Formats: sequence, C-alpha cells, structure tokens
Amino acid sequence: MARINSHYLKLAAGYLFPEIGRRTRAFQEANTSAELIRLGIGDVVLPLPDSVREAMKRAVDEMGTRKGFRGYPPDQGYDFLRDAIIEHDYKARGIQMAPDEIFVSDGSKCDSGAIQEIFDASASLGIPDPVYPVYIDTNVMAGRTGRPDDSGRYAGVHYLDSVEANGFLPKLPDESVDLVYLCFPNNPTGSVATTSDLQRWVDWARSNDSILLFDAAYEAYITDDSIPHSIFEIPGARECSIEFRSYSKNVGFTGVRCGYVALPRELRGRADDSSDVEIHSLWARRHATKFNGVSYPVQAGAVAAYTGEGQNEVRGNVRYYLENARVIREGLTKLGFTTFAGVNAPYIWLKTPEGLGSWEFFDALLERAHVVGTPGAGFGACGEGYFRLSAFGFREQIEAAIDRIQKSF
Ligand code: MLT
Repeated sequence: MARINSHYLKLAAGYLFPEIGRRTRAFQEANTSAELIRLGIGDVVLPLPDSVREAMKRAVDEMGTRKGFRGYPPDQGYDFLRDAIIEHDYKARGIQMAPDEIFVSDGSKCDSGAIQEIFDASASLGIPDPVYPVYIDTNVMAGRTGRPDDSGRYAGVHYLDSVEANGFLPKLPDESVDLVYLCFPNNPTGSVATTSDLQRWVDWARSNDSILLFDAAYEAYITDDSIPHSIFEIPGARECSIEFRSYSKNVGFTGVRCGYVALPRELRGRADDSSDVEIHSLWARRHATKFNGVSYPVQAGAVAAYTGEGQNEVRGNVRYYLENARVIREGLTKLGFTTFAGVNAPYIWLKTPEGLGSWEFFDALLERAHVVGTPGAGFGACGEGYFRLSAFGFREQIEAAIDRIQKSF
C-alpha cells in the first residue's frame, strides 16, 4: 500500500469554507423552505464588466481562426498583460518593477499556497492569527509544523497575534523567522497597514534576513489615499518581499481565475552550501515546471480591466461592495454590535453577541436569521469570539440580512 504524506493527518479540521458549506447544506436539507443569505465565503456576485467580457469574446473568436489561434501561453504570461501590470499597478505608484518580475497565474490562493515549496522544510514561519487558512495549511501539508493543540495552533509556528488591542495588526515576531505571511487589507479582519506599519515590517525583515509574503488581493478596496496598495511602495521591500495580486475581488474573476506574483530579482535565499541564490529563478523554474499558463481569453479579459472603460467598471463594482460593507457595518452598529473594518476592505469583522463563541454564533445566525457568515475561530485562536461577514452580495440581500439580524438578536 502506498505511504501517504502523513503531515496531512495533522490538519486540524476540514478546510474552513468547505466546512461552512457542509454545515450550511445540512441546515438547508433539514429546512428546505429557508431562504439562505450567504455572506460567508468572499465570493463576488456582480456580472463581469462589459469591457472585460467583450475582450474575452474577441479573444475566443481570434482563437477560432488559423491566424489568431494560440497554443500554450508564455510561462510568465503574455507581454500585453505584464506590461499593463507594470504600467498601472507599479509605475503609476512610483514603484520600480520589471515585466520579467511578474508571473501571471491562476490566482492568489494557488500562489500563496505554493510559494512555500521553494523553501526548505526547516524554514521557520511567522503566521498572523487570525489568518487566511491557506498560508498555514499549506505549510502543515509540507511538514513545516508539529501537531495542533486544542486551540488549533500548530507546534513550531510563531503566531503573530492580531487582536483588538493592536488594531488587528499582526505583532512583529519576537525572534527571527524565515518566512512571514502578511495580508493587507486583511482577510479576515479587514485591517489595513499604514506606510509606517509596513516600513517597520520591511526594516524588521531586512535586519532578520526574513522574507515577507505579502498578499495584496484586496488592494482595490483601499479608500484611504495614504494607505499603500503594494509592499513595494516601501523602500527596501525589493530585498525582502514577494507580492501576490489577484483579479478575483476587483474584476470578478473568482471563477475565471487569474492573478500574479511580483517577485524582484534582488530577493535572495541561502543554499545548503551557504551561497546566496536568486529566489526569482527558483520560482520561475517552479512555475515553468508545474504550471502551463493562463489561457489567452482570460489574459485578454484581465488586460481589458486596465483600459479606461475597464477601470471605470471595476471601480463601480468595488464601490458597490464597499457600499454593502457600509450598510452591514452601520446596520449592525445600530443594533448594538461591535464592528470593525469594512471601510478599506470588503469584510466586516464583529464581536459575537450574547457571549456566544464563533461557531455558536454561526449556528445561531443560520438558525435564527438564515444568514451564513464565517466564524472568526475558523481563522485562528485569536478569532474566537469574532465573526466575519462578507460584503460580496446583492444589495437587497445585504439589506434583508441586516433586517433579519435585527429581528433575531
Ligand atoms: C475568503 O472568503 O476568505 C476568500 O474568498 C477565500 C479566497 O479568496 O480563497
């Protein structure tokens, strides 16, 4: 019989969102007439922007001709998309980044999950708590942790508490760690990091020879002009950071799938013989070996999001979700809930009422209001007593959810 990767057996529970799906399905089967409002997983609902859809259709039509047909896409993405990324996401913010430092991919979940593969199994980890589960679970699978304790925390991991007292910003590790995962605007708490917060991280990483794995999947939701959209707005970040970007939550590509990694050539790691190695070439090798590129129609759609029309449409969708966030935040605050975030992020983080634990509130919300959310404890021990509501829904559902919560709590 084949030996399995026994590190998988250490995983504390099912992946958070399938677990929520399982509980929700069980409730729905037992309550067939209940009309559920789903504000759990952060999945977009608005249709694809017209300009993006038209570009994708044109690309499909081109593929139907001898002249326009395209086979395997270039490993790191078509030049047209990487040039637009450099122009709009980096140059426009005064950031130095070259097209060959961009790796177009099928999204941030895959990238932020896979990046750990190019580091040694002994690499030490700094993981915020609460956290997007992908960062920790992929490292558990790779054998970089021990077993979980009763709170779900894995042995050997440096957890960086992100609690109300520190504005839900992960605290700096009190000792040197090799890899630190950061996400701003944060999933799940919706907190944002200022330039000086990020400068502290970059300075810390450089003086500790650490690498920051920076997930910027929600940068489009930043409304405060003083908040950085990219870790590379911070001087010194090129020597210590890798950035993950996504078209999921802005262009609406959660199903279409496209994102990218920005990985500067300056970034170095250490080999067994103590020599310095360019991380860029390792990721390029991994990308070329395990990934066959993003399809032409999808990249054509992504680049259309950078045109004037595309930008207007994308900003319109982001504004819509942010208005939903306002409705949730203000509605719940009026009802006496303690809420956080939802201003620079599509998530509202709230304290669970009535002394309920996170999962208890999940069940109560489902049973009493038929609303699905995400228990804070599912994101880590520090999330216990908190809850996340997603603003990705249609306005009428958001308003109905607040109305139902008012009647139920
Ligand atoms: C979430 O709800 O946290 C996200 O949708 C998960 C993801 O982007 O994979």
